[in-house]
Amino acid sequence: MNVFEIPTKLHDEKRQGEAYAPVGQESALFHKKFYIESYGCQMNFSDSEIVASILHQEGFGATRQFEEASLILLNTCSIREKAEQTIRKRLTEFRKIKEQKPDLLIGVLGCMAERLKTKLLEEEKLVDIVVGPDAYRSLPALITEAETGQKAVNVLLSREETYADISPVRLDSNGVTAFVSIMRGCNNMCSFCVVPFTRGRERSRSANSIIEEIKDLVEKGFREVTLLGQNVDSYYWFDESTNTTVNFAQLLEKVALLHPLLRVRFSTSHPKDITDEVLYTMAKYKNICKYIHLPIQSGNTRILQLMNRTYSREWYLAKVDRIKEIIPDCAISTDIISGFCTETEEEHNDTLSAMEYAQYDYAYMFFYSERPGTLAARRFTDDVPEEVKKRRLQEIINLQNELSKKSNEKDIGKTFEVLIEGESKKDATFWKGRNSQNKMLVFPKAHYNFKPGDYVNVQVESATQATLIGQIVA
Ligand code: 5AD
Ligand code: SF4
Repeated sequence: MNVFEIPTKLHDEKRQGEAYAPVGQESALFHKKFYIESYGCQMNFSDSEIVASILHQEGFGATRQFEEASLILLNTCSIREKAEQTIRKRLTEFRKIKEQKPDLLIGVLGCMAERLKTKLLEEEKLVDIVVGPDAYRSLPALITEAETGQKAVNVLLSREETYADISPVRLDSNGVTAFVSIMRGCNNMCSFCVVPFTRGRERSRSANSIIEEIKDLVEKGFREVTLLGQNVDSYYWFDESTNTTVNFAQLLEKVALLHPLLRVRFSTSHPKDITDEVLYTMAKYKNICKYIHLPIQSGNTRILQLMNRTYSREWYLAKVDRIKEIIPDCAISTDIISGFCTETEEEHNDTLSAMEYAQYDYAYMFFYSERPGTLAARRFTDDVPEEVKKRRLQEIINLQNELSKKSNEKDIGKTFEVLIEGESKKDATFWKGRNSQNKMLVFPKAHYNFKPGDYVNVQVESATQATLIGQIVA
């Protein structure tokens, strides 16, 4: 999973809730303004760009100032209880603003809309519009309905919707890197996960529409795309006109061949689905980044079974070995959940030892949060006390901090090709950008005339846990 992470995990994730405004779009051209905040996984941020495109067609321009918007949208996440609490708090704040400004419309999009359906509308009277992840095309009609004072809801899930024909409006873009959604939904049914319920069945987007979208990005000067899906390795497209099929490895190859200066990344991979064919394709093309996000969730086979992950500890660790055998310089990151139902201290220690074995470069770590309606909520008792979950999580975080530091220290002295993404936030005399392994590097601009979108060779001189610091080398 995980664009939520599904969470898509990229080191430099956008701040949660960050408001978007399209870069280079003259919002004065639009007679109405909308303000959107996105929470959760990269898929949600990507969906907000589809929503922006649909709203543009209706004459709505994006604004960063909610005070000037007539429509406020929150694209929400249900993956953990804490995410939902944060969003509820934010909705209450917007509700107060609406008391002063009765014409203001407030809408909830995404996973919370799907999970809670009419609850936010009826019981809590927090919002005017509720739209699930597969119903964004109906947003204009729902806005019209809400403008007449009716409560507007569409949470129908679809087996087909991929928004393939909608060109996303890039919001807050750096003009260099972009996310491209290649599939939606998830069929995996990991027992802890609410995503199959909020985002529905898995479906892939047509290969042609993906390639066309990326070609357009390349023409606009973009130099990196991240192919997004809850489970990208199960991508599958059958083209009726040519009678041919495209799997994920073939899609990766097609994208890699579009332009030698275009980098390709992807997220997320389920360990059970990432094939040798994908690994060999990654090894074959220099512009496919050597980085895999491979969620383990737990290092204990009994817990993995309860989680319905369909692999054992040994099988997962053998996959890690295989990745390192085929792509020796590949970075690997992971997702880990502490304190899943019935987890013992020994089973928790298995997670720590699996982390040591895999030597992760980076990890996203959480304590288990029971989600209503999931298999785990129905079948198991959430019986690990919260303080135990949190203490185990802290041990996991402490270990990962050591592993990340070690991984970064190993890079000191090495030279990497870095794609410049923009100025360093801390110091405008420095550039920032990533290497193939998805590590963030910062380095002085010096006397060179490079710009965002250029590739430079950077030799690493020092490292913190999160960043590599270096110098451009000729
Ligand atoms: N509790 C805690 N973490 C969860 N994740 C998914 N569902 C839950 C949950 N109920 C984590 C998994 C997943 C990541 C996106 O979020 O690690 O890979
Ligand atoms: Fe990821 Fe599993 Fe959830 Fe699917 S069900 S989104 S694979 S964690």
